[in-house]
Amino acid sequence: MKALALKLLGGIVLMCIFFLLLLWTTADNHLLGYPQPQSPGQPPTNLGKQVYDAKCAVCHGKEGKGDGPATAALDPKPRDFTLGKYKYRSTESGSIPTDDDLLKSIRKGLHGTAMIDWESNIGGDSLRAILDFVKLFSPRFKSEKPKPVQVGLVVPISNATIDAGRKVYDRLQCSKCHGHDGKGTGAEVTTFMDDWGFETHSTNLTEPWTFRGGSSIRDIYLRFRTGMDGTPMPSYVGAASDRDLWSVAQYVASIARKPAWSMNEQELRAHYGQLDQEAKSDPVRRGRYLVSVLGCTDCHTPLNPTGNPLEGMQLAGGQRWEVYPFATFYTANLTSDPETGLGSRTDQQIKDALTKGIKSDGSRMLPFPMPWPSMAGLKEDDLNAIIAHLRSLPPVYNKVPELEKPNVFSYLWGKFQMLILKKPMPAYIRSGNHGAPKERSLSQAVTSGKEKRP
Ligand code: HEC
Ligand code: HEC
Ligand code: HEC
Repeated sequence: MKALALKLLGGIVLMCIFFLLLLWTTADNHLLGYPQPQSPGQPPTNLGKQVYDAKCAVCHGKEGKGDGPATAALDPKPRDFTLGKYKYRSTESGSIPTDDDLLKSIRKGLHGTAMIDWESNIGGDSLRAILDFVKLFSPRFKSEKPKPVQVGLVVPISNATIDAGRKVYDRLQCSKCHGHDGKGTGAEVTTFMDDWGFETHSTNLTEPWTFRGGSSIRDIYLRFRTGMDGTPMPSYVGAASDRDLWSVAQYVASIARKPAWSMNEQELRAHYGQLDQEAKSDPVRRGRYLVSVLGCTDCHTPLNPTGNPLEGMQLAGGQRWEVYPFATFYTANLTSDPETGLGSRTDQQIKDALTKGIKSDGSRMLPFPMPWPSMAGLKEDDLNAIIAHLRSLPPVYNKVPELEKPNVFSYLWGKFQMLILKKPMPAYIRSGNHGAPKERSLSQAVTSGKEKRP
């Protein structure tokens, strides 16, 4: 009798613990949402703030820092408004943009980026209010006046002006970054860091539909006449006569290739054949493209608390993924460092990791977060291109910790919640570099704010 009562009591206590745990984990999930940033200073009108919070904050962030919850997956990243630096202007290099410049970006959008044309969504008063609100994020708009460029006389376009433009293009050395053919061929360098800390590439000038600031001759003229602040794209003010600068814009417009969607079958085949050829002759470039579209950079570069890449740590690994209840993963260092990166791995070892999920220590990776099953179908040429690009990365010493598996109890408890209680099992990414650069030992790994990947 006594034994039975004890068993019952034990049972009740266990039930209570179980319930408390359940409550705790559910509550925990609520607490782990995004931190709510504070709203910026005095809004001029509530309307501007309302529309901004509803339409723009998801990318540009509540405080205009370009760190909204949707940023992780975007390339290019949304603008950080607090610096007051703008790319698409009709004003001199270093000047703030005019209201019309900002309105143009907002109304027409920036082609080929996540910044859509808001014209059909936001009109009239709201548009004006939102413009005023965006300007509040930087003190520059209070203390400075925009300096519009003098556009000069527009030269009528002709074969002669286009020919002249080609020569000026060479003389001004646009080819150093855009290549002699506008496609990057023969360029000295095509990959850069912008002032916000993101990688950027010189635009392929034969694909005007990718020009974010627009593809009219006037748009092209303004881009290099005023420069794109915050990027390596310089301003050519005073570098040549206005007439010559207009002819360069006409030349650039003239080298546009036919877009794929208006090619016939024969042209398409020739086009992709040529792309294949180019990939073979320049694997590093092809590899850079693949590494960017396959998301390697997003996972293998550690992040700061606002979700932006840590400076100087491009692809150096050390991002921490807590995938409950499976394991805590640390992304690998993919730079060419021989000790902590891929420098001393053979091509075959890297291919085995990418296509078979086999790590260089022989252990197998789970099919997540490292998405190797989706890479298993990569063509040999593409694998070689990825490796060629990774080998071209400067070595960064960053010793990444081993993966941590949970103990059996928490693993089973996690599985139970997933399968029986049907709770979603979230993955968390912790900001900071969890690897050990030279000056730090692994035991001092960073543990800063918990973030949830959308
Ligand atoms: C889905 C994400 C997204 C949303 C939503 C969004 N933007 Fe953007 N925005 C971007 C990106 C990405 C860029 C950067 C493009 C680049 O660097 O070329 C940008 C750039 C800008 C720029 C800078 C242009 C320059 O000259 O540098 C302005 C101004 C801007 N956005 C305003 C807004 C406003 C106002 C809203 C709300 C109505 C908004 N954006 C909503 C993604 C977004
Ligand atoms: C130092 C390298 C460099 C030089 C020199 C250079 N560019 Fe650029 N250019 C860039 C980069 C980088 C970008 C992309 C910037 C971005 O969006 O982050 C770019 C973008 C552009 C764009 C696209 C803008 C858009 O709307 O998206 C045009 C057009 C352009 N350049 C034309 C020229 C012309 C013409 C010259 C010579 C007069 C020139 N560039 C010289 C680096 C350069
Ligand atoms: C969604 C995030 C994610 C993406 C995208 C991703 N990786 Fe990984 N990768 C990881 C994680 C996490 C690990 C560590 C897995 C482990 O320890 O089991 C890893 C491991 C690796 C390894 C194994 C290194 C070793 O220990 O031998 C290589 C190589 C690698 N990744 C290369 C790449 C390349 C190249 C790409 C792009 C083509 C890429 N990864 C894309 C998350 C990612």
